[in-house]
Amino acid sequence: LATADFDLSAVEFGETITVKWRGKPIFIRRRKPEEIAEVRAVPLQHLRDPETDEDRVLNDEWIIVLAICPHLGCVPVSNAGEYNGWFCPCHGSHYDISGRIRKGPAPLNLEVPPYKFLDEPECKSL
Ligand code: FES
Repeated sequence: LATADFDLSAVEFGETITVKWRGKPIFIRRRKPEEIAEVRAVPLQHLRDPETDEDRVLNDEWIIVLAICPHLGCVPVSNAGEYNGWFCPCHGSHYDISGRIRKGPAPLNLEVPPYKFLDEPECKSL
């Protein structure tokens, strides 16, 4: 498996960066405490693709997802949309700060790739 290491020490709270892994774009967002609280307060029955935020992260501060909309494959825009997570401009899918689909045609959440922390919390290996 191809792996890649990323230094996240310069990423600010609330900031999303985009990196490349296996030729695919990956979003990495450092979440503020209030953003974590917001996504954890959402009842699962409000979700089209029910997944808890806890099941989508290894470290509460960091959400890491493939930057590919599960509807038809466009690249969403970060820190945008009605839930301030991601917005896919192709057909209007809105994702929350856990990368979960909240509104629009996408059937599934943004996919979480395999990763691990090398040196908590500064580095991740994809
Ligand atoms: Fe993202 Fe259609 S490809 S909403």
